[in-house]
This record gives sequence, C-alpha cells and structure tokens, in this order.
Amino acid sequence: MTQDARIFWQTLQDDWARLRSIHLRDLFAQNPDRFLDFSATKDDLTIDFSKERVDYRAWTNLLALAEACDVEAKRDAMFAGEHINTTEDRAVMHVALRAKAIDSYCVDEELTAPLVNATLDAFLAFADAVRDGQITGTRGKRFTDVVNIGIGGSDLGPVMAVKALAAYGEEGPQMHFFANVDGTDFHDKMSKLNPATTLLLIASKTFTTSETMTNAHTAKQWLLTELSHSEVGQNLVALSTNLNATQEFGVADDRVFGFWDWVGGRYSLCASIGLPLALAVGSANFREMLDGFRDMDLHFKTAPLAENLPVLLALIGIWRRNIMGAPTLAIMPYDQRMERFPAYVQQMDMESNGKSINRAGDPVGHQTAPVIWGEVGTNAQHSFFQLLHQGTDIVPVDFLMAAQPGHGLGAHHELLMANFLAQSEALALGKETDEVLAEMLADGVGKDVAQALAPHRSFHGNSPSTSIVYKEMTPFALGRLVALYEHKVFVQGAIWDINSFDQWGVELGKTAAVKIATVVSGDAPISGLHPSTQHLLKRMTALQA
Ligand code: F6P
Repeated sequence: MTQDARIFWQTLQDDWARLRSIHLRDLFAQNPDRFLDFSATKDDLTIDFSKERVDYRAWTNLLALAEACDVEAKRDAMFAGEHINTTEDRAVMHVALRAKAIDSYCVDEELTAPLVNATLDAFLAFADAVRDGQITGTRGKRFTDVVNIGIGGSDLGPVMAVKALAAYGEEGPQMHFFANVDGTDFHDKMSKLNPATTLLLIASKTFTTSETMTNAHTAKQWLLTELSHSEVGQNLVALSTNLNATQEFGVADDRVFGFWDWVGGRYSLCASIGLPLALAVGSANFREMLDGFRDMDLHFKTAPLAENLPVLLALIGIWRRNIMGAPTLAIMPYDQRMERFPAYVQQMDMESNGKSINRAGDPVGHQTAPVIWGEVGTNAQHSFFQLLHQGTDIVPVDFLMAAQPGHGLGAHHELLMANFLAQSEALALGKETDEVLAEMLADGVGKDVAQALAPHRSFHGNSPSTSIVYKEMTPFALGRLVALYEHKVFVQGAIWDINSFDQWGVELGKTAAVKIATVVSGDAPISGLHPSTQHLLKRMTALQA
C-alpha cells in the first residue's frame, strides 16, 4: 500500500471520528437537499447516496483514496488485457464479451472481437432456431423445455437474468435450472418433463465440477430412457471451455458453445453461459443486454473518478465496510422478478473479494468483502426489517427499483414505490422516544403505559442506505446494472489490493469432499477421516439403518 493510501485511510478514520456522532437527521437538517450533492445520474440511472453517513470532506477523501490506490491505472490494465489475475496468470476480459469491434480489446496481442462474435453469433442463432422450431428434438418435435445443469457462475447468472427479464420470455421454451447435487433437485424438476422435447444444457466452464457432472450423467441417462444412443445427441448442448471433456461426454462439437480462460465463471453471463437467457428471450433482447453492459463498461473506462458510478458505489462500500465497520451489505430489489439478484451479487462480490491475502502475498491488514445478503421488497419488511430498524448492528442497504412496472397493475406499483421510499427514509431518520411518547399520549394512551412502551417503540435511525433507481427493467437496464456491480467489485478489490479474479478458497472443501465420498460410498475405511468427521458420519450412518 502506498504512503498516500495510508494517509487517506487515516484521514478517513478521522472523518468517521467526526461524523459518527452526527445523526443523518442533523445532516439533512443542515442541508435538506443533500440529494443534490450526494447523488449521481447517468441517463435514466440514478444513485442516491444522500442517506449515507458521509459529508463533503469525507467524500473528497474517499475519492483521494481511490486516486492514491491507482484505481484508474488498475482499471486500464484490465481493459488492456493484462494478466491481472496473477495467481492464475490470466487476463480478466469479461468486458470483451459485450464489446464492439471498434473497442479493439486484445488478450495476448490477439483481438478478442472475432473470437467473441463467432461464438456469440453461433449460440444466438442456435437459440433463435430452437425458439422458432427450426431446430427440434430428435423426432422433429419442438423443444418445449430447456434444462440448464450448472452451478455457481454457470447457474446464478442465467437464473437471475431469466427471472429479471421474465416479461421478455413469454414466447420462449420453459426454462428449468438445477445446480445442487442433492437428488431432490433433479427429482422435483425432471419428473414432469418429456425427454423427447427437452433440451439439455450442460453448463460448466471446466466441465469437471462434481455436482454438475453428476447431474449431467444422470440427466443423460434420463434422456436415454426415451431416446436411443444415436438420437440423444440432438437434445444435448455443452457450454464450456473444455472441449476434450465435452467430446468425451458425447456432445457433438457443433453443439458446444465455448468461452475462454479470461472469463471468470462469475463474470460469464455475457458468454455462452448466457445461452439459457438467449433461449428464453431471443437474440435481440440478449444483444440489448450486452449493449447495457457495454454502456456501463465505457462509462467506467472513461468517466473521471468523481463522476464514475462504479467508483462511487465502491467508495460507499469502502466507507461502510472499512470506516463504519459494517460486516454485511443487504441488496434489496423492490421487484419480485429480481429475487435472485442478491444471490447473483453474492457470488460476484464474495467469491471475488472474500480474501485476506493481498497481491504481494501478505495478510491484508484491513477488512475486505462484507457478507452480501438480501431479499426482495416488500417481502423483506415482513421478515428481517425489525433488526434493521431496532437492532444493534449497522446494516447498510442497497435499495433498487424501476420507476415503471413490468406489468399493468398500477396500484400495486404505487404501493411498492411508497414502501421503497419509506424504508430508506425510516432507516435514516428513525423516530425519537420523545416523539413516540408524545404521539402515544396524544392518542390517549395512559402516561405510565406510554412511558413504559416508548423506548420499545422508538427507532434509532441513522442506518445508511443507497437507492438505485432506473426507468424500467429492460435487457439494457439489467446489463447496465450488472456491469455497475461488476466494476464496483473491481474497484473495491483494487483499493484493497487483492486479486478479485481467482477463487482458491473453494478448493479445500472440494478436495475434502472427494476423500470423504470414498468413505461414504464404502470404498475406503472411516479410520482415515478426522475424528470430528468420523463421529458425525457414524451418527448419520446409524440413522440410515
Ligand atoms: O465456486 C467455484 C466455481 O469454480 C465458481 O467460480 C464457478 O462459477 C463454479 O464453481 C462452477 O464452475 P464450472 O462452471 O467450471 O462448473
């Protein structure tokens, strides 16, 4: 970490020492129009961070921290195709997936556009042909159902996007996703489908992930209950970088849509991993989503730090996490179709920045990614908002909402909007005991009862939130929103000086599971396991008797 960065980390701590005793009520009393100074708009997208516990001086110091951490130079290195994923010696070029030729992105001196466009054109043409019945199942029957078998980035992105853009998918085939190796997932989802009219997508960047490959083999056997070995290939597609493995599985090369090692799994929605979305909404809508991603990419690439929306969102996160010490971040879309957006951002953020070793290989010395969680509003209000309003922790919230509904029920949308606006206001301003007491007395509540109840019915407020609003949920808006969060994650990783693009942390559990599986299956002695595991396994085995 540079000396300047150290200075600004300390300056920001000083800012918090000043601000922690100032309530958001006071900040708004000093400047009722805080929104005008602490919000940013790009086209129809507005980020309102006026309910964050910052002032102009703190904000200036946050921007200075970004500068001191060379965020712009690190950003430029990513766009230039440098191998910034140093532990895997790879470039990080998911931006190339949604680029135009004019962007001239390169990886290892090779222009990416020809590669990307060839695959993009192929899988989008395939999607359109399936949707309009040109490509059918083995016996000439139209595909009525698509099953995507994948996990992590090979599942979360397509699931999120298909739901978010449900309004655009009414003519498409029925989409089904299963990720878990738990047999109930397979049983519940496949038992109602017809193998002859089901297209099976096996989505796995490595084509080695045990859950996916276990499900894939079982699904192929399911196809073979109806189809012959010579027919089954017509109902099989693979989305992967591992062509040897896809061939071995029996997927014809012209049914494999690949991508590259410079695309991380959690950043692969714009690659062929997005085929389920293309099947659901068609190529035109998929390309519109790519345009939304690219719109934010170019903004991130060129906008000055002070006007750069991903930088802004990232700095809010740094302030919440490293200065205020908030251990979690709640993502709350007020849109039922965005119900899987929190889960998608969970992997994007926590698998990227859930790290404790910096780029030099030393312990980071500060907090990194918060725990990301969330739920759609207004459901969340009837679940855990009690804690947000009257709990003991600071829980920052990102609220998201489209101004226009994706349906015709206007009255519902008005109520949704009222709740969306009310929650961030209530969290910020709270309600003081005196005010609560006065209200109860005015309502005729007896003095003793009112005085006893008032503390329980007061609200500390001062809970920070940022509200992100946009005109409507379209493919473009979704792409732009996802890119906003992708680049926010990049900026935070740059400031924390960590590698956001490897994921060694998932290996230990995977390796242990492989060894334990040999014991569970009876192929190896239980004595080879750790005593804690031996006891637990013995208990479970006894329960299976
Ligand atoms: O969770 C580890 C991980 O490698 C993710 O990064 C990835 O999205 C997921 O597993 C699935 O990997 P694959 O697409 O190679 O099956």
